[in-house]
Amino acid sequence: MPFAEWDEIFETGVEEFDLQHKKMIQILNLIYIYYQRRLDKKMIEQVFQQLTDYFQKHFASEEAMMESIEYPEEELAVHKSAHQEFLKAYLQKVHEGNVMELLKFVKNWWVSHVFHIDKKYGEFIKMKNK
Ligand SMILES: [Fe+2]
Ligand SMILES: [Fe+2]
Repeated sequence: MPFAEWDEIFETGVEEFDLQHKKMIQILNLIYIYYQRRLDKKMIEQVFQQLTDYFQKHFASEEAMMESIEYPEEELAVHKSAHQEFLKAYLQKVHEGNVMELLKFVKNWWVSHVFHIDKKYGEFIKMKNK
């Protein structure tokens, strides 16, 4: 059984970001497989590097998109600080090096962030296009 699974309840309706969100699940599952196979630390570190890059690019592109559609300022600020706070906590956990704890932390955050915060820009875009 994969560690994390995509479900349509996470769909934002913005294809580009839905694809990026799915990609993140793939990376988490890859790390989980590596972890279960007890691959060496170097390999796991490399995939975490990939995940860190992914987060940085993903957050930057979401934020640029929200700015381009004149997303309400307050919502944008809340969204940006959610990204920043997560990155800070995530990097701290990477530093601590407990793989399973880190995987769970990322998965829980991802589920809640996509469902409660990312989906809001999808709704905003739908409203705007009405
Ligand atoms: Fe996102
Ligand atoms: Fe986001």
